Amino acid sequence: MKTNTASLLALATAVSALPSPVQKRACDAPVKLSGSENAFASYTLHPNSFYRAEVEAAVEAISDASLKEAAAKVADVGSFLWLDTIANIERLPTELATEIPCDNILGLVIYDLPGRDCAAKASNGELAVGEVDRYKTEYIDVIAGILKENPNQAFALIIEPDSLPNLVTNIDEQACQDSAEGYREGVAYALEQLNLDNVVMYMDAGHGGWLGWDANLDPGAEELASVYKAAGSPSQFRGISTNIAGWNSFDLTPGEFSDATDAPYNSAQNEQQYVKLFGAALKTAGMPNHAIVDTGRNGVTGLREEWGHWCNVDGAGFGVRPTSDTGDELVDAFVWGKPGGESDGTSDTSADRYDSFCGMPDAYTPSPEAGQWNQAYFEMLLKNAKPAF
Ligand code: BGC
Repeated sequence: MKTNTASLLALATAVSALPSPVQKRACDAPVKLSGSENAFASYTLHPNSFYRAEVEAAVEAISDASLKEAAAKVADVGSFLWLDTIANIERLPTELATEIPCDNILGLVIYDLPGRDCAAKASNGELAVGEVDRYKTEYIDVIAGILKENPNQAFALIIEPDSLPNLVTNIDEQACQDSAEGYREGVAYALEQLNLDNVVMYMDAGHGGWLGWDANLDPGAEELASVYKAAGSPSQFRGISTNIAGWNSFDLTPGEFSDATDAPYNSAQNEQQYVKLFGAALKTAGMPNHAIVDTGRNGVTGLREEWGHWCNVDGAGFGVRPTSDTGDELVDAFVWGKPGGESDGTSDTSADRYDSFCGMPDAYTPSPEAGQWNQAYFEMLLKNAKPAF
């Protein structure tokens, strides 16, 4: 065919009128995962390009040569990609357009429930209480569609950090009462719609200092299990995520807060104990009980004045890198859930989402809005990393 400018233009117009280009397939055959297997035993958590770009920008801003060299290595650590707003779903097709090795699993955090973060302010979300239909159609359905379009890519999902745990322990707060119905309906819907062959799912279970209290174990397990059952006991469901964006040690014994006066009421003094005890309660309640545990920022302990302090803990360090070598049959993997360097909440007391926990003496200040990059905090995590980079 003879080409000239006019025919090239016509061709370009025709191409741009076609449906969006077929996305690059990670593997050359469909992926088949199952809730009865540990996907992390055969897949590596993918170092996503979103966090890589944040880290690479951070590296540019560091002048000290040895710190710069150490910082660059963080870009290669696998971590979860947060889809924390409808607009940020866009991060997913962007990621899927990059090279993802066939043996990598892409970790995603589903995090946009109506009335999000009901017992705190720092991560209050875009959807109001009552907007569960928008959550379904504008958020979950869109994500489900993208996952279906990419059957050759493996995905691991963390479903809605903190949501159901808040209904167990913070239901005396009006905002959590108002949110409860939407949380249960929304999480069940997510579990149903995202139950795809190329996906494994973990429902968030807080951490040992939350549902690990003796009195919370059974009610917590019943809350999570009832939502799992309402979703039809999905086949791709594997268990729980713990310590997401948290600070607890995996196996420090007897545990960071074991000297506290209330310690006798909590036998889950580290995350390993928590997975064991809560796992047993889940089993009784009829829910799969394997776990992934966030070790992204738990390299240093002994920093918090109280167990419940959750915001930008000062002096923290990166922890163990993602691995399925956990030494515990119930624990599928250590993962980096919270991308270290992104803030937990603003320390600006005049901001709408200012939460007093982010102004505590053991919280790092100044800190930007939740999810925003904090260069100084990243450098601190790096300097205090254990193991070192
Ligand atoms: C924030 C999200 C952010 C996530 C990961 C959460 O606390 O609310 O906006 O994506 O942390 O940094």
